[in-house]
Amino acid sequence: MCGIIGYIGKENPKEFLIEGLKKLEYRGYDSAGIALKNKTETQIIKSVGKISSLEEKVNNEKIIEANIGIAHTRWATHGIPSEVNAHPHKVGKITLVHNGIIENAKELKEELQKENVEFKTTTDTEVIAALMNYYYKDDVKAAIEKTIKRLKGSYALAIICDDCEKLYAIRCESPLILGVKEDGFFVTSDIGAIINHTNKYVLLGENEIVEMDYNNYKITKNGQEIKREINISDLKDKDNNLQGYEHYMMKEIMEEPVLVDNIIRKYKDNLDLLPDLKKYKHIHIVGCGSAYYAGMIGKYLFEDDGIKVEIDVASEYRYRNIIYEKDTLVILISQSGETADTIAAMRKANSNNADTLAIVNVETSTIARECTYKVLIEAGREVAVATTKAFILQVLIISLLSYKIKEDKKYLEDLVKIPQQLKVLLDKSGFYKKLADSIYKHEDVFFIGRRIDYAISMEGSLKLKEVSYIHSDSYQAGELKHGTISLINDGTIVFAIVTDEETHDKTISNLEEVISRGAHPIYVGTEECSYESSIIVPKVHKKLQPLLVVPTLQMIAYYVAYKRGCDIDKPKNLAKSVTVE
Ligand code: G6P
Repeated sequence: MCGIIGYIGKENPKEFLIEGLKKLEYRGYDSAGIALKNKTETQIIKSVGKISSLEEKVNNEKIIEANIGIAHTRWATHGIPSEVNAHPHKVGKITLVHNGIIENAKELKEELQKENVEFKTTTDTEVIAALMNYYYKDDVKAAIEKTIKRLKGSYALAIICDDCEKLYAIRCESPLILGVKEDGFFVTSDIGAIINHTNKYVLLGENEIVEMDYNNYKITKNGQEIKREINISDLKDKDNNLQGYEHYMMKEIMEEPVLVDNIIRKYKDNLDLLPDLKKYKHIHIVGCGSAYYAGMIGKYLFEDDGIKVEIDVASEYRYRNIIYEKDTLVILISQSGETADTIAAMRKANSNNADTLAIVNVETSTIARECTYKVLIEAGREVAVATTKAFILQVLIISLLSYKIKEDKKYLEDLVKIPQQLKVLLDKSGFYKKLADSIYKHEDVFFIGRRIDYAISMEGSLKLKEVSYIHSDSYQAGELKHGTISLINDGTIVFAIVTDEETHDKTISNLEEVISRGAHPIYVGTEECSYESSIIVPKVHKKLQPLLVVPTLQMIAYYVAYKRGCDIDKPKNLAKSVTVE
C-alpha cells in the first residue's frame, strides 16, 4: 500500500527512483511523484495514473542536477487520486513521502489551521509535512522527533529539507529499510526496488530515525545512537523480470512446480526443521484475502489431525474478545508479512502470551521478525497483485505441518509426485484458454464445494473476480439453496469443486439442483465424469489435493481476465501489500 524510495549519493537519483517506483508499483498505482534536490533547489514532479505516466512527464521536463531524491507510488486513502494529492508533499521547507495512515490527521490539521497554516490537499500526509515544518527551526531530526510524538497511526516516511543536503527516514508499522551502496544510500519499502544496485540492507526498528549524508548514515532513537548489522539479501533480479512472459501472474503460476519441488526437497526428510504442532491443544489461524483461504485449508487439515482450530480474518480477529486458552498457537499467514491487520492480530496474540507462528514469504518483514516461530515459503518475489505461487506454497507448508502431526506413508508417496503432476496440469494452457472462452462473457459465476473443497472454491472465486472483474461468489455446496439459488439463471456458470471423497456425492446432488435450474456446470474433480465441462486432476492424498486443483483455477482466472482485456498484474482498486486497516 504505497511504495517509497529515496536516494542520496554520488549519482543523480532520477533513474534509480523511476526504476524503483516501477518495482514498487504493486503497492499502489493510482498516482505517483518524485522530488529531486540539490544544494539550492527542490524540484517536484507528480502525475496521476501509473508510473509510466510519471516517467513520461519526467522525461519531458528539464531535470535539475541533483544528488538527493524521494519518490512515491500511491494507493489513495485520504483524498481522491489526483495530482495535487499525489506525494511528495512540500510544506515550507519540508518535503516528504508517506506510506500508512495518520488516524488523528483531522485534529492535527484543525490545530495547525488555528496557527494559520494553509493546506492544499485533503491528504493526511500533507498534515505530517505541515506539522514537521511547524516544528522545524534549524534541526530536522528534532522536528521529526517532535512530529512523531503527535502522530497516531502508521507511517513510513522519507524526508528532505530545503536547508540541508541530507535524507531522513523513519518508520512505524509500515515497512522501510535502508539500502547501503558503495557511493550512496537508499531507503525503500521493499528491497526488490533496489536489488539491481545493492543487496546490502539494514532493518530499521520502529521510530528509529535514519539520517544520511553523502558518506555516512546514522540511526538514532530518542537521541541514542543505534548500531544495526548490515544484512545481505539473496533476492535475485530475475524475480523482477518478466522473463519472456506477458504477465507476472502467468510467470508466477509457471514457477509453482519448481518452487514446490524445492520446499518438498527441503522438508521431506527434515521434518524437524518445522515446528511441532502436536504440543498445542488449540490453534487459531489468521490472515487476509488469499492467505485466509490458505488458512481455511489448514483448519480442515488440523481438525482432521485432532486439534481444535479457530479461524478468522485478521481485521475481525484483532477486534474480537478472544479467550486464549493454555497451549494455544496462533498461525499468521501472510505473503508480504506487512499486512496491517495481520500484524495487529499477531501483536494481540503475542501480548496474550500465545505462541505465534508466521507462514510468510518476506524474511525481513514485521511478521517474520515478531513471531515466536517462522516458516518461510520461499516463493521469491511475487510481483502480480493477485497471489498465485505464494498461495500454493502457503498451502504446501500447512500440509507439511499437518503431515508432521500425523505422519502417513501414502502422503509421502504422493508428495514427491506433486511437482511433476502440477507441471503436466499447467502445460495444458490450450485447455484453460478454451474453457475461459466459454466464461469470459458472463457477469456472474458461482463456485460451490464442501470442507476443503469449499476453501478451494473461495480462492478460485477470489482469483476470478480480482483479475477479471466478473462478479463471482463461493458457497458451501449445501448452503446455496438457502437463498442464493434464486440467482441461478439459464446458463449461469457454476464451478463445483468435488475432490473430497466423503462429501463427493452430496456436492454432486447440489450441482444437480442448480443444473435443473438452468446452470451450466463446470465439474472440478478427480474422476472422469459426464458433465460437458470438467477439469480433472490426479487423485492424491487429501492433504495435497488443493495443490493440484487451485493452479487450474488460477489459469482460468488468468485467461478469462486476458480475454476481457483486464490489467492482469495490476487489477483496479487493489494493492498487493495492504499496510492500512
Ligand atoms: C491483498 C492482496 C491479496 C492478499 C492479501 C493478503 O489483498 O491483493 O492477494 O492475499 O492482501 O496479503 P498478505 O501479504 O498478508 O498475504
